[in-house]
Amino acid sequence: MGGSSSVFSMVSWYVTKHYLYLSSCVVYRLAIMDAILKTLFSSEEQELYVLDCLSYLMMVMALVTFVASFFEHMPYGRYASSRYGFPVNVKFAWFVQELPAFLVPLNLVLWSPCAKIMHLPNQILLLMFFCHYVQRSLIYPFLIRGGKSTPFVSFILAFVFCIYNGYLQARYLSHYADYPPGWVTHPCFIIGASMWFVGWIINIHSDHILRNLRKPGETGYKIPRGGMFEYVSGANFLGEIVEWAGFALAGHSIHSAAFALFTFIVLSSRGMDHHKWYLRKFEDYPKSRKALIPFVL
Ligand SMILES: NC(=O)c1ccc[n+]([C@@H]2O[C@H](COP(=O)([O-])OP(=O)(O)OC[C@H]3O[C@@H](n4cnc5c(N)ncnc54)[C@H](OP(=O)(O)O)[C@@H]3O)[C@@H](O)[C@H]2O)c1
Repeated sequence: MGGSSSVFSMVSWYVTKHYLYLSSCVVYRLAIMDAILKTLFSSEEQELYVLDCLSYLMMVMALVTFVASFFEHMPYGRYASSRYGFPVNVKFAWFVQELPAFLVPLNLVLWSPCAKIMHLPNQILLLMFFCHYVQRSLIYPFLIRGGKSTPFVSFILAFVFCIYNGYLQARYLSHYADYPPGWVTHPCFIIGASMWFVGWIINIHSDHILRNLRKPGETGYKIPRGGMFEYVSGANFLGEIVEWAGFALAGHSIHSAAFALFTFIVLSSRGMDHHKWYLRKFEDYPKSRKALIPFVL
């Protein structure tokens, strides 16, 4: 009897010690993140103002990218050039550059005050963002077959953008976004969330088709067939554009709209460039296939 009670007290001491240790870690990290945010911003109003400014700045960046796209292709993949720095291994580049878009929101959600995290629309929108970036940073890079190395400048720009956008979307949704009661049953939310889901599936499926054009070890290009590629050359880009347009419709904020606009500008220009490139490269390229919008453009 004395033996079992001493085992019990040892176990409870062990559990309590670890529980206290873990709790102190949580409190410690919460305190650190809170301290960082308080150092950066003197009040919540100021942080919200900065989030708004970051959204407008992203729109300006989209505009600059739009103008630049008349003079230069996005310098990675088939258009990679040594003018944009030394080559970075493609799997390493995609993994490292996209990871902040997953880790920054994860840290914010786990270790910073999240006043709106218990609200259903905020949770669903955050889940959309996480789903996309878990796939993009932890799965997509390791499936790439024979991709071209990424120039250093493109890699760094994508890395910085993912920190920027990860903070913008996750902080707004977890702490500030206020939706009216019943927002998840509003047509904007239902249509937006459905668009996000359909776009995500098209994007993943199209990237899967592209990947399987190459046998292991191959690096050349072939005509993509099947899925949305029967209609457009930029099927993966069309999927991602629809995805973030849906996110913006469901999110109904300047923050999500800025990201959707940026994605649209970057990927529509890349889709148009790819289409022209295919027409030049393959004489037997399907004539009815459009660049980005089925039957239209
Ligand atoms: N939200 C945003 O702002 C944003 C920005 C950029 C990209 N993305 C997303 O990131 C993903 C990849 O973008 P990306 O610009 O790299 O797409 P991509 O140019 O279509 O290339 C995707 C992959 O498929 C390969 N590939 C493409 N066409 C091929 C063909 N005809 N034959 C054989 N292999 C082919 C590419 O190899 P090579 O590397 O050798 O060309 C690359 O590994 C897409 O899902 C895109 O939507 C999102």
